[in-house]
Amino acid sequence: LLARRITRPVGQLAAAAATLAGGGRPPPVAAPEGGEVGELAAAFNAMVARLEEAERRRLAAERQAMAGRVAAAVAHEVRNPLSSVRMLVQMVHGRLAGEPGLARERGYAEVVLRELERVELVVQDLLDLARPRPLVRRPCDLGAVVEEVARLVGPHLAHRGIRLVREVEGDPHPLEADADRLKQALLNLLLNGAEAMAEGGEIRLAVRWPTGPRGRVAVAVRDHGPGVEPEEAEALFEPFRSGRPAGSGLGLAVSRQIARDHGGDLTLAPADGGGTIATLTLPVGGPSAAAAEAAP
Ligand SMILES: Nc1ncnc2c1ncn2[C@@H]1O[C@H](COP(=O)(O)OP(=O)(O)OP(=O)(O)O)[C@@H](O)[C@H]1O
Ligand SMILES: [Mg+2]
Repeated sequence: LLARRITRPVGQLAAAAATLAGGGRPPPVAAPEGGEVGELAAAFNAMVARLEEAERRRLAAERQAMAGRVAAAVAHEVRNPLSSVRMLVQMVHGRLAGEPGLARERGYAEVVLRELERVELVVQDLLDLARPRPLVRRPCDLGAVVEEVARLVGPHLAHRGIRLVREVEGDPHPLEADADRLKQALLNLLLNGAEAMAEGGEIRLAVRWPTGPRGRVAVAVRDHGPGVEPEEAEALFEPFRSGRPAGSGLGLAVSRQIARDHGGDLTLAPADGGGTIATLTLPVGGPSAAAAEAAP
């Protein structure tokens, strides 16, 4: 009996080691509590877990490096033509202002300019991932940031039959942040929400201020799309991880980077009653508060 209690786990260990050596992922080895064989099995299981973690990190680093190479190439080829297109459309738009009969055409030019703005943001995402820019922190009016983002995506959402509902809870606190980068992050979240809602519906954009003088303000974007699996949400933040044929898979990676650069964070979770809720948090207060939060 004693021999069987030892040889069974040892046999399992041998099989698991062989699987590992062959590049496979052995299931955890079950072994009796305590005793040398038990200890060996526990050590083996811990080693397998560490190897898996190292492999996951290596893949993430590889994706990041690839992002850098692709970004450098694409950004260069796209950004320059884009700015000439924008300049010319702006000129046409200006000319049309003096022509009362061409109001419709002027409207078209406005749509082109807005869409260009979005393309420029995607290119910016790509560049940011390749070589992150330092933040430019200034006293920031979060309400105005939300307003601006809503203005920017409004026509896009309306076109897809989506209503954007805004909500503010609590009283605003001072906030030191890089408004342009926050815009970029919120825009990504709203566009993801819109992508998830093929049938149209409602997206809720809520700003919740903390009650105390410190703490974090939360900006939550809640959609009514298919939702995300809690155990899969984390993987969606990896660069180039996209579930959409036309997606670049950069939005969440860049947006989380922006939140973390501010000493905050970005998470994705299934919402009560279906859909997804993306929550971006930022430390409130002056720069010292933000720096204290950013410290590990
Ligand atoms: N609100 C959401 N509901 C459901 N799935 C989502 C949501 N947000 C993100 N996802 C999933 O996560 C993936 C990654 O999102 P991410 O924003 O990083 O890239 P993307 O939207 O595919 O491309 P882009 O770089 O243009 O934003 C999406 O392709 C989608 O599958
Ligand atoms: Mg996206």
